[in-house]
This record gives sequence, C-alpha cells and structure tokens, in this order.
Amino acid sequence: MTDSALPAADRIPDLRSDLLAAGLSVDALTRLWGEEAAEALHRGQRVPAERALARREPSALATLARLFVLGLPVAADAAAAALPAFGVDGAVALGLVTSDDASGTISAAVDLRPYGFVDAAGPAEWWIVSDLGELALGHALPEDHVLGVGGASLTLSGLMLQAPVESALDLGTGCGIQAMHAARHARRVVATDISPRALRIAALNLALNEIGGVELRLGSMFEPVAGERFDHIVSNPPFVITPRSDGVPAYEYRDGGMVGDGLVASFVSGCAEHLTRGGVAQLLGNWEYRGTGDGLLRVRDWVDASPEPLDAWVIERDVEDAVRYAETWIRDGGTRPGSPEFERLLAAWLDDFDSRDVRSVGFGYLLLRRVEGTPTLRRFERLHGSLGANEAGLGVHLGEALAAHDLQAALTDDELLRLRPVVSGDVTEERHLWPGADAPTAILLRQGGGFGRAVAADTGLAALVGASDGELSVGAIVAALAQLLEVDEDALRADLLPAVRGMLVDGFLRA
Ligand SMILES: C[S@@+](CC[C@H](N)C(=O)[O-])C[C@H]1O[C@@H](n2cnc3c(N)ncnc32)[C@H](O)[C@@H]1O
Repeated sequence: MTDSALPAADRIPDLRSDLLAAGLSVDALTRLWGEEAAEALHRGQRVPAERALARREPSALATLARLFVLGLPVAADAAAAALPAFGVDGAVALGLVTSDDASGTISAAVDLRPYGFVDAAGPAEWWIVSDLGELALGHALPEDHVLGVGGASLTLSGLMLQAPVESALDLGTGCGIQAMHAARHARRVVATDISPRALRIAALNLALNEIGGVELRLGSMFEPVAGERFDHIVSNPPFVITPRSDGVPAYEYRDGGMVGDGLVASFVSGCAEHLTRGGVAQLLGNWEYRGTGDGLLRVRDWVDASPEPLDAWVIERDVEDAVRYAETWIRDGGTRPGSPEFERLLAAWLDDFDSRDVRSVGFGYLLLRRVEGTPTLRRFERLHGSLGANEAGLGVHLGEALAAHDLQAALTDDELLRLRPVVSGDVTEERHLWPGADAPTAILLRQGGGFGRAVAADTGLAALVGASDGELSVGAIVAALAQLLEVDEDALRADLLPAVRGMLVDGFLRA
C-alpha cells in the first residue's frame, strides 16, 4: 500500500469476493503446505512452505498464498486469474502489489493473510493487511512499518474484556486489529494512531472484513479524544524503551518517542480522564527496574499519580535483564546479531539504561478501572511462567474476576459467612508427602483455566474448598472444620475468610 493510496471503498467488496472465492483461510493454508511448514512460517522460515507450494497444482489459493503470505513474486497471468473481480490493476491502484512488466511478475507490496481467533462469541476469521515483514523485504524494517498481528497483539486481544459496552477506544491501532476485536462488544469504537499510513491500512482492514462502527482518528496519545470518555480503552501502545540518541531508529510501531518507560507512565496517569465511571483501560507495558528499586512499585506510583482514582490490577509476566532486553529489540528491527551495527546499537541501549541505572525491564498487563471514592482493587503481582488453558482468551476470566472482586468487596465478613460457594470444575488438589508420611507437608490448589494459578493451602483451606458444594455456607463449613480439626472456631474463621475472598476473586470458588 503506497502512502498516497486510500482504500477505495467501492472496490473492496471485489477484493473480498476474490479472497472468499480462493478460499484464503487459516485451515486452507495449513492444508496447502502442511503443519510443519505452517510452524516453520511462525518461526520466520518460508522455504518449507515455498517447496510445498511448488508440488501443488496451480490454484488461486496457491497464488494468493505465495504472493501475500510468503511475499514471493507470481506470474502476472496467475495473479490475474486469482483476482478475477478486483483485477491486478485494482491491486496496483490500491498499492497492494507492484507489477514488473519486464519480468511479467507481480510482487506484494503488503502482507495479507487470514487470521483466526475464538472469543466469547465463538470462532471467527478475518483477513489482515499489514506491511511486509523483514522476511519478505530482505532488510531491516523502515521506521514507519505498520505491524501485522504479532504476539503482543494476540496477548492484548486475548485479555480484552468482552462484556457489551457502548463505547471503546483503541489507542495506537496500527493495522486496526484491537479496534476490530473491540467492535465485537462495543457499539461504537474510536481507533487512533500517530501514523497516517497505519490508519489507511486499518481502514482497509475494516472495509475488507465488513466491520462497521469504527471511527479512525489521527493524533498522538489521548489528543484525538480530548474531552471524551469511553467505557473501555484498549491499547498495545508503543512501549518499547529506546535510547533517544542519534542513529538509533525510532520505529513508530513500537516506540512512542519518550525517555525510558515514560510512555506507559503517561498513559497510566492520563487514562482516567478518558474513562467513564466504572470504565476499564487495558494495556500492555514495560517498566524499568532502577537501581535496587522494584519496577512494579514504579507502576503503583503511576497509578497513584492519576488525577482521578483508579482500581488497578497489574500483572508482571516477565522480567528481562537490560542486556537481553536491548538484544531482543535490536533483533526485532531486523539488525543481525554480531554485525557492527548491532554492536553500535547495543552500546547505545546500554548507555541509555546506565543513565537511569536500569538493571532490568518488566513486561506485563495493566487493567485500570475508574472508580468514585477509594479504590478497592490494588493488585500488583508477578505471574511469571505458563498460564492455564484458555481457548477463548483470558478476557472472560478477567471479567469474571472483576465481578467476583466487586461482589466479595461489598460483603461484610458476616455476609461472606452466609455465602454458599461452589468449587470450580477446573480446580484440582496436589498433596506432597515425605515418603512414608501420613500427613502432607504441602498442599497446592491448582486451577486448569484462568491464569493457571497454584495456591498453597493448609488442611483447613483445602477442606473448605473441597466442601464448597453450593449447599453448605462458608460459616457452616468453618464450624464443622473447627470441630473436626479441634481448633478454635473464631481463629479458624479469621484465618480462612481472607483466603475465601481470594479464592472467589481468582475463580477457585464461585459465588
Ligand atoms: C505496538 S503497535 C500496536 C498495533 C496494534 N494495536 C496491535 O495491537 O497490534 C503501536 C501502535 O501505536 C502507534 N503509535 C506510536 N506512537 C504513538 C502515539 N504517540 N500516539 C498514538 N499512537 C502511537 C504506532 O504507529 C503503532 O501503530
């Protein structure tokens, strides 16, 4: 897509009908080149897929796959046969392909591939246009590169709350993927980006997938929505920490131009004035660990700096030491490790980190909710390692956890004692015993879904969770356990009630 090209709305249905007729879907591509080649493609290797295509009968699907997914040239007549309604001329005019008359070939100017997902509404599939990756370009990415659906995009879309709302904002929409997901539960979506090119690609994706109700606006951070509030804000913002020195590429798609983790800080302290009461912002972010300080406490300070009170649930998924972090992002831009350019960039990154005494960088998810009065949810936790199985993403679990938090926060201890919870179907108990011992030395309650948490429990808590059948109240179970374990009932109650609250929030128990 050239910079001047605008989505010609009247021609997009023709492109859509060609893609439909060719059957360009995730399953069809896997059938075309096989599981192994599909996995190799995820690792950035297209040779197995190319070889598999060479063994296939020519077809519109094979032509479109070679052209747009592998980024390899195709013969002009094959391209014409694969795009009978839209035509090669239409694709050239829209900036999707370029034509080389001398060789009689057509090359992709963008990546266009199917994208499948499952959410609360069930399975669905779209086609997503984005800029060609490093593999197809054969060189480092340009600074105005518009990202396709990557790992971070999937993380955020999987975390997205899915309860129906009136309005949503996707800040830094890129190819439009989060706005498209948000449009499945929000009646009205505003999607912003600082890149005009990203907005053109987003407009194309919305039209190609016949998604309405999304308004695209150009501008930085919250500028395009000054004075407006939304029920749901989602953002995979350009949070990558980048040295602000000469000769270091400033990639629009990942770097918001601020020093250190300043962009995430400014998002956190600026979002409350764009949230309706009870409105939720969900974003991904990086935070610096400076000196002996704790990165998660820096995030807490940002939340505290919000001019309007926010509930906050921040989950750190990973921490990378400063050197690894720099290596990751230099490689991501397409610079090869070991090259002089790589070493120059690494030195710039480490100088930048040294200037703030940054030892490591945390990555994680932030969920912020605008509240009136004193926030009741202040959770800053580390969940490093693998998560539970979540077919339809963590968004549904997060929504349930928020509702459970609100429910238990509104209950006094006496009211909680009258609750009759049920243990969730995905909870199992692990007992660890010294060889030959009768009593366990450790008990773990583990959930299969949600965040796949494992909670250390004593005999009392494990027994309470096990006895939660929806018939018995918490109070009745505690009284029976006190007798059975021969312990003081008041002390047991004081011990177990906070744990019951936690079990409800995390989905081990359901009210
Ligand atoms: C990491 S990409 C996310 C793209 C897409 N939302 C996704 O989830 O895949 C960040 C996006 O933010 C945009 N961006 C960069 N600086 C920005 C700013 N100051 N204000 C708004 N958007 C910005 C970039 O152009 C890019 O499209």
